[in-house]
Amino acid sequence: MEDQKTSILKILKKAEEDAVSGEYIGTVLKISRTMVWKHIKLLQKQGYPISSKPKLGYSLEYTPDNLYAENLLSELETEILGKKILYYKETNSTNDVAKKIANIEKEGTVIVSETQKKGRGRMGKVWYSDLGGMWLSVILKPRTSIVNSSRITLISGIAVARTIRSFGLDASIKWPNDILINGKKVCGILTEIGAELDQLEFVVVGIGINVNNDIQDLGDEELRKNSTTLKKELGYPIKKIDLFRVLLNNLDQYYIKFKSQPFQSILQEWTELSDTIGKEVSISAPNMSIVGKAINITERGSLVVQTKDSGTQEVIAGRCNYETKQRK
Ligand code: BTN
Repeated sequence: MEDQKTSILKILKKAEEDAVSGEYIGTVLKISRTMVWKHIKLLQKQGYPISSKPKLGYSLEYTPDNLYAENLLSELETEILGKKILYYKETNSTNDVAKKIANIEKEGTVIVSETQKKGRGRMGKVWYSDLGGMWLSVILKPRTSIVNSSRITLISGIAVARTIRSFGLDASIKWPNDILINGKKVCGILTEIGAELDQLEFVVVGIGINVNNDIQDLGDEELRKNSTTLKKELGYPIKKIDLFRVLLNNLDQYYIKFKSQPFQSILQEWTELSDTIGKEVSISAPNMSIVGKAINITERGSLVVQTKDSGTQEVIAGRCNYETKQRK
């Protein structure tokens, strides 16, 4: 059940700045006008620009760009994702929070934080998570075997790339799960799982998007050189609440597709959005390194690389670098 503060916000947003009477809100939510007034006071205290007009009622002057749970919840029209949202001003890592509560929370719960003190990237790297970025984790519980977990990473990549594209930017996916704009990384995805024998108990999809945060705050020189933000690419800051709405709706849709459609069609879409297929790559992982041309992606999320001397090879995980010399 949606909480009353969220429902009130939803009603006010739907009215688009028009005034809505306390009586109407009370009737819809089956609560007294005094209760409505109490919730409105609380929302105003949190900074929501709600004005109260005598005889007319309450109106929300604009949607504030905060990531508070009720503000996010009142934006969504999803089927599975985001029915519950946990907001943090600061936490160590939203993935850590998600993993801790995954067994007791229902599928689709989202953890979002304004900053992370110990944001984590793939392969044990630090993920710089200053104010202005979008740092969130989603708890999923697909009833399927472990081997399918990389499919969740692939659909997440598609959802993020599609989201960024809807803001007019040319986002593409670098295998396995970096989102690039003009060759620079704007988002990373860290998928972590909990499993019992061969069955997935939960999948935590951690998504970090550089939105309005400052490139200068990103770790070392190398990282700054290879990273970008949505603000930098667009030339102006974007409302994180808008980004969140589109992202969650897209993730929800692709998750439903993953559950209901043959994976082949999703792979096709991943390939179309891929920046990697067709490029000369070098893949490195502990104990191995492969150089060749990336030619395909498999149903298990492995990259198929055509090497010069050892035929085609499938790589399930690793760091992917583009060779400076690209064959035509
Ligand atoms: C990568 O490209 O290395 C993956 C980066 C993933 C970062 C996100 S931010 C939200 C979530 N919490 C974390 O600690 N990491 C992920």
